[in-house]
Amino acid sequence: MTTPLLQIDDLSVKFSTPDGTVSAVNGLSFDLDAGETLAIVGESGSGKTQLAFATLGLLARNGRAEGSVRFEGREILNLPEEKLNAIRAEKISMIFQDPMTSLNPFMRVGDQMAEVLQLHKGLSKRRALDESAKMLDAVRIPDAKSRLRMYPHEFSGGMRQRIMIAMSLLCKPKLLIADEPTTALDVTVQAQIMALMADIQRDFGAAIILITHDLGIVAGACERTLVMYGGRVMETGSTDEVFENPTHPYTLGLLKAVPRLDMPQRDLQIIPGDPPDLTALPPGCPFTARCPLAHEPCPKIMPKLETVTGTHLRACHADMEDVT
Ligand SMILES: Nc1ncnc2c1ncn2[C@@H]1O[C@H](COP(=O)(O)OP(=O)(O)OP(=O)(O)O)[C@@H](O)[C@H]1O
Ligand SMILES: [Mg+2]
Repeated sequence: MTTPLLQIDDLSVKFSTPDGTVSAVNGLSFDLDAGETLAIVGESGSGKTQLAFATLGLLARNGRAEGSVRFEGREILNLPEEKLNAIRAEKISMIFQDPMTSLNPFMRVGDQMAEVLQLHKGLSKRRALDESAKMLDAVRIPDAKSRLRMYPHEFSGGMRQRIMIAMSLLCKPKLLIADEPTTALDVTVQAQIMALMADIQRDFGAAIILITHDLGIVAGACERTLVMYGGRVMETGSTDEVFENPTHPYTLGLLKAVPRLDMPQRDLQIIPGDPPDLTALPPGCPFTARCPLAHEPCPKIMPKLETVTGTHLRACHADMEDVT
C-alpha cells in the first residue's frame, strides 16, 4: 500500500475565549491520496477553514490543535514555524476567498510572483518572470507577459483569483487547498474558475481540497466529498455516493437547500435552527438539536463513522431508510 499524501487523524482545534473554549474541530479524520480531489462542505462555522489552518500551522494565537496531520508520511502538526514555511511554500499551498487580502496592492503582479520563485527556487529575476508569465498563461490569463507589469487593482475579481491560483502553483505544490475560492465571484466566473481547478488537477497532478458551503459547485469538480458539521465528519464518500444516496439527515438537508434548475426556487428548504454553540457541544452528535430524526442516544453518544457501501461512510444513529 502506498502512503496517502495527507493523513489527518483525530484532529481537534480549540480556541480559548473570554466566553469559554470554542471547539471548532472535534476528532476529525480523513486521508487524501496524491492527485485526488476532495470537497469539504458544511454550513458557516462548521470548522472547514480552521481544519485547513491547523493543517498549515496558521491558527490564530488563541487556537490550539491536537491529533495528527501527516504529509507524505511525516508529522507536520505543530511543527516549528521555519519548517512549516518550507512546506507551505513548496508542498502545500492555499488560496483564499478574497484574493485582495493575499495580493500586495502596491506591487506589480509579476514582481510578486517572481519573488516567490526567487526566494524558494533560487531563480534569477529574469527566469522567475518568465516562469510567472508561463503560469499566468496556464491559468488562461491572456497576454500574460504584459499583464505581469500590472497592479492587482487593474484586474477583475475573477482574474485576480486566477492570479492567486497561478501564484499558488508556482512551486508545483503536491496539495492545493482552496478555501471558498469562488464565493466572491459571479456565477459565470465561478464556473470558469471551477473548470480551471479541474484542469490544474489534470495538468499539474496536484491533489486539491476544495472548501465550500456551496454544494452546487462540488458535483463536477471533486471526486470525493466530506460533509462537516460542528467540527465533525457527518458523511463522506465519492461525490456520486454522497449526492445520489445521502444517508445523513444533515447532508440531505444541505442538498435540499441547493438551488436547482429543475426545481422552483420556492421549494428550497433551509435547515431550520441555528448552528451549534461550539462552547457547549453535547457529547453526542452536534446536529441533534436540528435533526428531524434525533432520538435518545443522539445527544449522548457520538455515532462512529461506519461504512454504508464501498467508500461511503456516515456517522448517524438513525435508520438509513428513514433518511429521505
Ligand atoms: N480565533 C478564534 N477564536 C475563537 N473562535 C474562533 C476563532 N477562529 C475561528 N473561530 C470559530 O471557530 C468556528 C469554526 O470556524 P471556521 O472558520 O472553521 O468555519 P467555516 O466552516 O470555515 O465557516 P465559513 O463557511 O463561514 O467560512 C466558528 O464558530 C468560528 O467563530
Ligand atoms: Mg471558512
